[in-house]
Amino acid sequence: MSEAPELIRGLEGVVAAETALCDLDGAGGRLAYRGYDIADLARRATFEEVAHLLWRGDLPTKAQLDAFSAELVAARPIPDGLHAAFRLLPKAADPMRALQLSAAMLGALDPDAADNSPEANVRKAMRLTSQLATAICTHHRIRLGKEPVPPAKDLGHAANFLFMLTGERPPAVNARAFDASLILYAEHEMNASTFTTRVISSTLSDMHSAIAGGIGAIKGPLHGGAGEAVMLTLKEIGRVENVDAFVEKALGAKRRLMGFGHRVYRAGDPRAAVLRGLAEEACRLSGEGMWFEMAVRLHERVNRAKGLIPNVDFYSAPLFYALGIPVDLFTPVIVAGRIAGWTAHLLEQYQDNRLIRPRGKYTGPPRRQFVPLERR
Ligand code: ACO
Repeated sequence: MSEAPELIRGLEGVVAAETALCDLDGAGGRLAYRGYDIADLARRATFEEVAHLLWRGDLPTKAQLDAFSAELVAARPIPDGLHAAFRLLPKAADPMRALQLSAAMLGALDPDAADNSPEANVRKAMRLTSQLATAICTHHRIRLGKEPVPPAKDLGHAANFLFMLTGERPPAVNARAFDASLILYAEHEMNASTFTTRVISSTLSDMHSAIAGGIGAIKGPLHGGAGEAVMLTLKEIGRVENVDAFVEKALGAKRRLMGFGHRVYRAGDPRAAVLRGLAEEACRLSGEGMWFEMAVRLHERVNRAKGLIPNVDFYSAPLFYALGIPVDLFTPVIVAGRIAGWTAHLLEQYQDNRLIRPRGKYTGPPRRQFVPLERR
């Protein structure tokens, strides 16, 4: 037997690192980034301000924000080699694989590739945040057989994303809703993908390698992949009138309903409350109101039957759909927000590193004699 003392399945409740980034109150259903309530940030700040808050410790002044935004804008273009790599992928390739490829390739081509100093890592965090957004949109257009849309220097991060995706300048209301959703996704303490990035960096591997791993972790349907699954569920239901029968059948079959439940929030996910309002408005304005109505009814019925709460990925699904984001880009879009938090965590991890190396509880056979091949 190994000497590992206690098995904690799924590391539930285990505190794995100190962090000054995110104050998550699961019982109270509250969330703050560096002390600022998430609802205030989503309603009143921009993604750029939140990225500054996460990486540099405080909200920027106007002058700081201008300089910071200019740096992010300058970092938006992606290398020609990445365009070429996207053209080599099959058209049906999962956009999350293209994103993982992007992180690896941007790492290989990064001017600070061999430099793991704090200054270089802040530069990498900024480049990754701008470049992954461009990579998502570029790959999407290439897979559709369309020309990529170069970034627009005069647009903020959120509006520029929608512009690069569609080739059209988004209405201010859409850009604002998208900006708020990027903020809501930007950071969330020690979730599975952030933990993954911290594990990778704890070996003193580089930031791009850690991000490629984080992209792999967030893709699963129990994590960021749930948003896409929510939209597929809504499409499967098809009409508001079908919700009740769907819920009865799904729960009877013990089906896991995506977008519901959370490891830490038990009473409610505060991000879902903000996203619900954004989804309602976006669905109404786009004429896609039925998806919101269906989501609300599904929320009510599932909550009443099982006490499950909608998580961040629930109302973001009808919101993203109403904003014209293709369903298989929902998870890449989550990455476009979460990259700010991942990289902020990596800066913390490098600053006070200790190799993350837990133990396993051995359940195999006891020690036994080796038998040579000819006698087995
Ligand atoms: N649908 C149906 N039942 C559920 C759901 C769900 N979405 N979530 C939890 N339950 C039930 C489980 O069946 C279990 O019931 P039981 O005790 O009768 O067996 C109980 O609630 C506890 O569930 P666990 O899976 O043990 O709880 P855990 O803390 O591991 O799960 C998780 C958290 C993975 C998020 C889970 O709620 C889930 O699978 N949700 C759906 C996927 C999802 O939406 N993921 C996104 C999370 S947010 C994010 O990562 C961005």
